[in-house]
Amino acid sequence: MNTIYNDPSKSPKERTKDLISKMTLEEKIGQMCQIDGNENPELWLKERNIGSFLHVIGDEAIRLQKMATEQTRLGIPLLFGIDAIHGHAFHSGATAFPSQLALSSSWNPQLVEKVGNITAKEVSLTGLHWTFSPVLCLARDIRWGRVDETFGEDPYLAGSLSASIIKGYQGKDLSHPESILACAKHFIAYGETQGARDASESDVSERKLRSIFLPPFKDAVDAGCATFMTAYQAIDGIPCSANKWLLKDVLKNELGFSGFVVTDWDNTGHMHRLQKTTSTIKEACEIAIKSGNDMIMATPEFFENAVELVREDVVSESLIDEACFRILETKFRLGLFDHKRYPDTKKYKIFMGCDEHRKAAYDAALESIVLLKNKNNTLPISNKFKKIAVIGPNANDPQAQLGDWSFGPRYYPERPTLEYNDYDISNIVTILDGIKKRANSSFEVFYEKGCDVIDEKDKNIKTSIETAEKSDVIVAVVGDTIVLNGETRDRVNLDLTGAQLELLKALKDTGKPLIVLLINGKPLTIPWIKENADAIVEAWNPGIEGGNAVSSILFGDYNPCGKLSISFPKSVGQQPVYYAQLPGWHGGSYADMEPEPLFHFGYGLSYTNFEYSNLKTSKKIINDSEDLIASVEIKNTGQIAGSEIAQLYTNDIYTSVTTPLKELKEFKKVFLTPGETKTIEFKLPLLSFSFVNRNCKRCVEPGEFEILVGSSSKDGNLLKTIVTYGGKVQEF
Ligand code: GLC
Repeated sequence: MNTIYNDPSKSPKERTKDLISKMTLEEKIGQMCQIDGNENPELWLKERNIGSFLHVIGDEAIRLQKMATEQTRLGIPLLFGIDAIHGHAFHSGATAFPSQLALSSSWNPQLVEKVGNITAKEVSLTGLHWTFSPVLCLARDIRWGRVDETFGEDPYLAGSLSASIIKGYQGKDLSHPESILACAKHFIAYGETQGARDASESDVSERKLRSIFLPPFKDAVDAGCATFMTAYQAIDGIPCSANKWLLKDVLKNELGFSGFVVTDWDNTGHMHRLQKTTSTIKEACEIAIKSGNDMIMATPEFFENAVELVREDVVSESLIDEACFRILETKFRLGLFDHKRYPDTKKYKIFMGCDEHRKAAYDAALESIVLLKNKNNTLPISNKFKKIAVIGPNANDPQAQLGDWSFGPRYYPERPTLEYNDYDISNIVTILDGIKKRANSSFEVFYEKGCDVIDEKDKNIKTSIETAEKSDVIVAVVGDTIVLNGETRDRVNLDLTGAQLELLKALKDTGKPLIVLLINGKPLTIPWIKENADAIVEAWNPGIEGGNAVSSILFGDYNPCGKLSISFPKSVGQQPVYYAQLPGWHGGSYADMEPEPLFHFGYGLSYTNFEYSNLKTSKKIINDSEDLIASVEIKNTGQIAGSEIAQLYTNDIYTSVTTPLKELKEFKKVFLTPGETKTIEFKLPLLSFSFVNRNCKRCVEPGEFEILVGSSSKDGNLLKTIVTYGGKVQEF
């Protein structure tokens, strides 16, 4: 049928306009519906022509796409969404990368973009074309279950890495068969809830929202992110999916977002069923449409209610047209009408989980691992040790290695997915696998699980001690597990669970050097480990190559360079410990604990040492005519080559509203050979010195600013200098 919408020479806008003009109301509303592909998809397709499924894996995507394009009146292709948030980790055999929190410890936008690019390629090889990633939420209360899915606590770092992974997913041309849609989520301030309770209420003012939470999402819009997902929770009583000001005025009009907004899982139903802000589901559907949600995820009642609302003139059909236009234009931009993106089985066999992709997962894990302590150069393990005891519950656990959103689309943590589906775990290199492989015949390796990560009765301390006593060094692999991370899995404390601490103390008592390796979704309160371990390595959920990457670092084949993207509290009650603290705390400390975190944002050690000196600025008076350049010298004063992530913070000393005592504004990773010195430059436009004032306007006020440069956010690690802005208040 040679119509405009079927003509690839026409623009996506022209084709969309033509197609919509041919559609019935029901067909347009069908495009707004996204349903779980595991729940009777044929019915949804045949009777309601829906436009999208999620959680569809494998051949099912081909079957449904054929049904949609060959057995419906207009043959509109389906959009398949999946949570491929650290590689296509639901798909058996795919390359599962380190978690988002792990990747953020690399502070490497180029690396993160490459992870996005490979993920897109493997997702597209399975006939899917949309990942619900990246998460742009900020992790500022670590009790929250989904900290592992974030890029940490800082807006600037999260925004930089989100923009990078979006570019990786979407490539240079969205219509390329290996490009997929990215999804900036969860819009907005979803991690900032009362008591860190998942999807409960956020009490964030407009000024705070614009100051802290909106900037990373602006970076996502500027990076061309094709879709946004509304967050579950209400902000000051208004559910995000019911917030017209947020979705239309701010996101679509002020930021100029031209893609489409999908709700999170049954946000529309939640307004009625959970948040009780509407007395009927029909009213919720009306509000969802009028507020600017374009696609409605997993609210089965939406289709019928939306048709009724338009028929009864409660909702204008123009709103349906607007939503449908955004969705269909995206499908045209994706090239879905021109090449159905069916999986290419030949390419699948070559590229899915291939060595090149695994190498990228290995590199990503290497750069994501953070050395937190190394007393007396216990690490790297060298020939001073001959016998290595690997002890702990996370030493040989594939699921702990991959972390959340892995192992199959409908995993339930109370039902270990290894029994639940046919996910092939043979391609996952556990910590034990990696150490055994790297040790080869030069070392003897002993292994003992030691205890369970949850059940404190399930332990064998005695055999663990015996194993330790016949070794020269202990690598204790502890942390947490999937039932303590993720959606609806917030915690009231962050201590090690089960008998892990008892096990560590028993191992410490053997007097052997104790290396603690953390395999965990989020920071834990581990003051005993900081005090008593000889070395501490934070590896998070390091992905399928985690065992090899950890071993390369333990044996010194690679010099660790990761830095924390999130602060570690000493105790859960000490929070908030994020570095960007506001002034005004009387006494500046709790009566029973000092305010310093256990480990600071931006902190990470190396096997060598770096010295910062000679912080300079290109001028002392800043203005809007030319950017300020700050420069610093960094020297490798040790015997080993390595990379250092230099960080630049600013502090606007006096401001008309409270502002943080320091804020990250730039960072640079530099490689230095032993004895080498390099000068690093940071470019700071006037905007870098701005904040959001009481009128919710971003502005720069006259006054003095500190510029702080160093190896972490800790005051003792920072060189400081002062610059002055003498101009008038400037709004942006
Ligand atoms: C979930 C999550 C969201 C995810 C979506 C689809 O409930 O909140 O992050 O992308 O539903 O699985």
